[in-house]
Amino acid sequence: MLGAWFASHQRDLPWRSDRNPWFVWLSEVILQQTRVDQGLPYFERFASRFPDVASLAEAELDEVLRLWEGLGYYSRCRNLHAAARYVMSERKGKLPATYEQWLELPGVGPYTAAAVSSIAQGQPHAVVDGNVIRVLSRLMALEEPVDLGASKKKLQAAADALLDVEHPGAHNEAMMELGALICSPTKPDCEACPVRTLCTAAATGSQE
Ligand code: ADE
Repeated sequence: MLGAWFASHQRDLPWRSDRNPWFVWLSEVILQQTRVDQGLPYFERFASRFPDVASLAEAELDEVLRLWEGLGYYSRCRNLHAAARYVMSERKGKLPATYEQWLELPGVGPYTAAAVSSIAQGQPHAVVDGNVIRVLSRLMALEEPVDLGASKKKLQAAADALLDVEHPGAHNEAMMELGALICSPTKPDCEACPVRTLCTAAATGSQE
């Protein structure tokens, strides 16, 4: 259901054309706390100035921060630069190949590790970001605030249980895309939703 919807409705985004882990990593760092339409020009700028991890590691932090200007949350940029240098100095320029190895990089947490290792490397790890939290909390009609520790555990467990382990990257991107395009914060387009029949909030009219 979700897979077929994603195949025909996904946006044509530059990091989706190949599964280059460097570009997927770059896109995921830019898209944290940033909408796709807002992050897109930054991705284009970074990808052309820094076509690989080595080029970012060699750049001065000042230049990288200047390119980042306007995106906010500058720690993302500082961490990305530090992580690129870490890859060059501690991993001989080789990007991590597993979820666990991604977590070893400075500033890389469970979200980024799951996103990059699943999308670029086919590793079975479920992503939970803001869009996914909204989709899951409606599917389950979660009543308690999503930022409670207990809710976070429930949401990660639900995401893990739903993960399509054969196609983890497409599944994760489909969940994020569903949250961005259909299951929006206000006025979700339930008529167009591929998983409407599974959704407790749609069944009970409690989406809002
Ligand atoms: N938000 C963060 N990462 C994303 C991705 N890979 N696709 C769609 N939305 C995203």
